[in-house]
Amino acid sequence: MDHRVKDMGLADGGENLMRWAEDHMPVLMKIRARFAKERPLKGFQVAACLHVTKETGVLVRALMAGGAKVALAASNPLSTQDEVAAALVRDGASVYAWRGQTKEEYYECIAKVLERKPQLTMDDGADLVTELHSKGGSVAGVLGGTEETTTGVVRLRAMAEAGALRYPIIAVNNAETKWDFDNVYGTGQSTLDGIMRATNVLLAGKRFVVAGYGHCGRGLASRARGMGAHVVVTEVDPMKALKAVMDGFEVMTMGEAAVAGEIFVTATGNKSVIGKREIAAMKGGAILANTGHFNVEIDTRALETMAVGRIRIRDNVDEYTLKDGRKIYLLAEGRLVNLAAAEGHPSEVMDMSFANQALSAEHLAKNHARLEAKVYDVPREIDQSIAKLKLETMRIAIDSMTPEQEKYVKGWAEGTE
Ligand SMILES: NC(=O)c1ccc[n+]([C@@H]2O[C@H](COP(=O)([O-])OP(=O)(O)OC[C@H]3O[C@@H](n4cnc5c(N)ncnc54)[C@H](O)[C@@H]3O)[C@@H](O)[C@H]2O)c1
Repeated sequence: MDHRVKDMGLADGGENLMRWAEDHMPVLMKIRARFAKERPLKGFQVAACLHVTKETGVLVRALMAGGAKVALAASNPLSTQDEVAAALVRDGASVYAWRGQTKEEYYECIAKVLERKPQLTMDDGADLVTELHSKGGSVAGVLGGTEETTTGVVRLRAMAEAGALRYPIIAVNNAETKWDFDNVYGTGQSTLDGIMRATNVLLAGKRFVVAGYGHCGRGLASRARGMGAHVVVTEVDPMKALKAVMDGFEVMTMGEAAVAGEIFVTATGNKSVIGKREIAAMKGGAILANTGHFNVEIDTRALETMAVGRIRIRDNVDEYTLKDGRKIYLLAEGRLVNLAAAEGHPSEVMDMSFANQALSAEHLAKNHARLEAKVYDVPREIDQSIAKLKLETMRIAIDSMTPEQEKYVKGWAEGTE
């Protein structure tokens, strides 16, 4: 198999990491066992652009057990676990990914994956799909695709709206068993993990600013509060801002927060949320991190131009010295801090996200002929079945409605007694 990874000598380490993840991903393991029997993806070439983590390794193994051939590129230049990349090559996947790619290498690897003329695409952020559509790739043979993250779904919806999307995509991100768990609990925990591994600063007592109170921001804010930080939220959506206020957080503009904050994390899916003006207003020692998909949420170019000096003071921490001597610390070059400085989300939440990926791929393999070039939600039955299975694997039983209750909740005749 053609591939490009850092070092095949790391494969044993990757095998251990994946075995650990497998033990914490029981839903996906059940799907894999069924896939091995039924082979629903037999003969399908999958082109994937995902963070190459141990959990993605478990997904790739499930797809291959289902009969697919998998070519995999990284969805971020800094997120690849090189051990996992090597172990997957040993398993028979074509992996083009290593940690620390340049922008050019990142896109070269996506091009390599697309050379395989896929029938199915699996994307995280929509770089693979947009490259395929814009560089004259072989869209003709593609039957369908899936998208893992909020930013990717936003981009693909814009493509569909503009009439540019050429095949059906399932928005895995928007499944309830993904968006309400992975983005909230996964991002909440792993983002703090990334900040702590990178800096080892004490969170208790710090002014911790979260930009964006959507799924990721909500999870992050509550976990930062749990560590004793004073959490400040910034928003542009009045409804989300109000929720943050009533959840007990301080809400202010980024202009105000810039002056008050000590640690700043962006989680918006937007660009230049922290720009030159805000950086200029910050206290010396401010720590900046991003957990939104792209490295555009913090204007790192502005930071570069404002600085008179820059050193890498620790792994994943760049110290910028401003003209007046203030120091500003940027984590993970402004890229996803949870994947670059830690290991991404815990396996237990990725279990549900990647169960959605595997079952959506199966759904596309079976039903592509009747789907249009639009962005679809994950079918409700798939989403529900994953929630049910996850509870079962956690050995948690829930009640079911009696026939009388079923009738009552659907009826209108009974009122006050
Ligand atoms: N770090 C990870 O592993 C990870 C995991 C999942 C999603 N993501 C990414 O995180 C980002 C957020 O995802 P989400 O699911 O929370 O989206 P979401 O749509 O639920 O929330 C985003 C929030 O940001 C707010 N916002 C937009 N512009 C803003 C601005 N200028 N200032 C303040 N707030 C602003 C929006 O009003 C919204 O409430 C996306 O880029 C997504 O792809 C990252």
